Amino acid sequence: MSHAEDNSGTRRDFLYYATGGTAAVATGAAVWPLIDQMNPSADVQALSSIRVDVAGLEPGTQITVKWLGKPVFIRRRTAEEIEAANQVEIDDLIDPVARNANIDGEVPATDANRALDESGEWLVQMGVCTHLGCVPLGDGAGEFGGWFCPCHGSHYDTSGRIRKGPAPENLPVPVAAFVDETTIKLG
Ligand code: FES
Repeated sequence: MSHAEDNSGTRRDFLYYATGGTAAVATGAAVWPLIDQMNPSADVQALSSIRVDVAGLEPGTQITVKWLGKPVFIRRRTAEEIEAANQVEIDDLIDPVARNANIDGEVPATDANRALDESGEWLVQMGVCTHLGCVPLGDGAGEFGGWFCPCHGSHYDTSGRIRKGPAPENLPVPVAAFVDETTIKLG
């Protein structure tokens, strides 16, 4: 038996188990809808991963995009914002954990462990306050020059780390990466 026949045999066996061995196995047309149900549907796949064009963002500006039903802040930071973030001692942080989904395990909340790129220019984080879920205000809001949640007064710094107020954790950094020079993929 050739390799190709091997494969088709395996697939038939799989379909047999998947359908409980009904007559539907005999016709390809009847089988495919069943297979489709085993994979995420096209619209779910599209939602779980989006690409964002950031070509128009100047340093010191940000955009908010909706991803998986939640706001995501994408900020292109100025040199001053990066510098301010780097000057903070980990010991001074309320939440010393980076909360970065792109890094395995718990790592310190240094700015380098939260920024998207090596220069630190790009910061991507969920726009959801870790207290009770309001959307914080951006563009240098709050006492630490980053974001401010007006619901109960949580202040986040220029790295999105909680510095004052009731929020217990830093703004989470979602799975994100540059796929080319001007496109960030979320998810
Ligand atoms: S929800 Fe942001 S401070 Fe309460």
